[in-house]
Amino acid sequence: MADFETIDEEFLRSRAALKWGPWGEDVISLSVADIDFPAPREIKEGVIRAVQEDRTPYGAYGGDSDVLEVVCEKLNRVNRIPATPDDVYMIPGTMLSIFLACYYALKPGDEAVICPAPVYPPFMENIENAQGVPVFNPLDFHNDLKLDLDDLKRRITPRTRLLMVSNPHNPSGRVFTREELEGIGQIAKENNLFVFSDELYEDMIFEGKHVSLASLDADLSERTLSAFGFSKAFGIAGFRIAYIVCRGKHMQELKKRLHGMIVHADTLAQAAAKAALTSGTPWLERLMAHLREMRDYAIERLSATPGVWCPVPQATPFLFPNLASFGMTSKEMTQHLEENARVIVQNGAEFGPPGEGHIRINFATAYPVLREAFDRIEKALVKIRQARL
Ligand SMILES: Cc1ncc(COP(=O)(O)O)c(C=O)c1O
Repeated sequence: MADFETIDEEFLRSRAALKWGPWGEDVISLSVADIDFPAPREIKEGVIRAVQEDRTPYGAYGGDSDVLEVVCEKLNRVNRIPATPDDVYMIPGTMLSIFLACYYALKPGDEAVICPAPVYPPFMENIENAQGVPVFNPLDFHNDLKLDLDDLKRRITPRTRLLMVSNPHNPSGRVFTREELEGIGQIAKENNLFVFSDELYEDMIFEGKHVSLASLDADLSERTLSAFGFSKAFGIAGFRIAYIVCRGKHMQELKKRLHGMIVHADTLAQAAAKAALTSGTPWLERLMAHLREMRDYAIERLSATPGVWCPVPQATPFLFPNLASFGMTSKEMTQHLEENARVIVQNGAEFGPPGEGHIRINFATAYPVLREAFDRIEKALVKIRQARL
């Protein structure tokens, strides 16, 4: 039975290199988007089985046929995306799909509209690496985090080639409604845009219903590169496994690029993905029950802290509170919390200019860790107020 009530910080410092590794013993990391729990037993067993089956030669380009079968069944049943194995490619991590979308769709000087911003920083990084120009469609923080579709329309120019969507949204935790997604789809079709839809957090929903953009109609399923993965909800970011789905001429072109780039995703990681889809659901349900408690507790703590304003996330393990009233930039606040609270959070401005004033907190940990982190954050914020009196 999974235990989400305790974590072994010492162990995490050695095994979670990105999230916990860089910091000293008295530091709590609520930064990088790992969950602090070991992966489900079923996934480990799936990998062990693949090792015992000696699955060591090259596999098929897009993925092993047993894995693609399971992925397609899920895409049709859960996401309502009409996919066959020809439409799917297993890839080493969702991150590669962000690169792929920009590499495929952008030429130097082309514009990519981020819908909405702030957003996961590699969206911007990959647009810039492709010598494209990121354009921000800001999330309306003062109107229930709604998409501003009129603003989105105004952002489209003759140079726009790509529309990049994050849903459920990192960092705000919004789950966009069918109507909002239909609005995005309409704009994409009217302007003949290629669409990238990052749906990595589809399994981490507390409220709302996840709708896949590519499920809305046949045209969108052909102009949209949708990406899904296993790094977050199943805690196997280290295995680097995800998949994309797209159809028709764009998929043919995307496949050509992937053939020359990766051949195929790691066979053992594909076995982990298959195990997650076939037998991971009971564990996932327990994880989400725990995360809901952590979210509610974290919101309660932040709401009781003067000067902090925090929207309630409908999904994801993130809070994206606004702390601008303390008179610091997001970067300064992040440094202040590191030095004075010994808590690592993420600088909201790294998620693009509309993230300034915010920090991102990852609450996917055990209750005692979160309680201690918020005790320390609260004291560090009081210190700022006292210094200003
Ligand atoms: C929105 C989003 N997309 C992609 C990634 C990268 O995921 P992966 O580990 O599957 O490459 C992350 C990781 O935090 C993310 O938040």
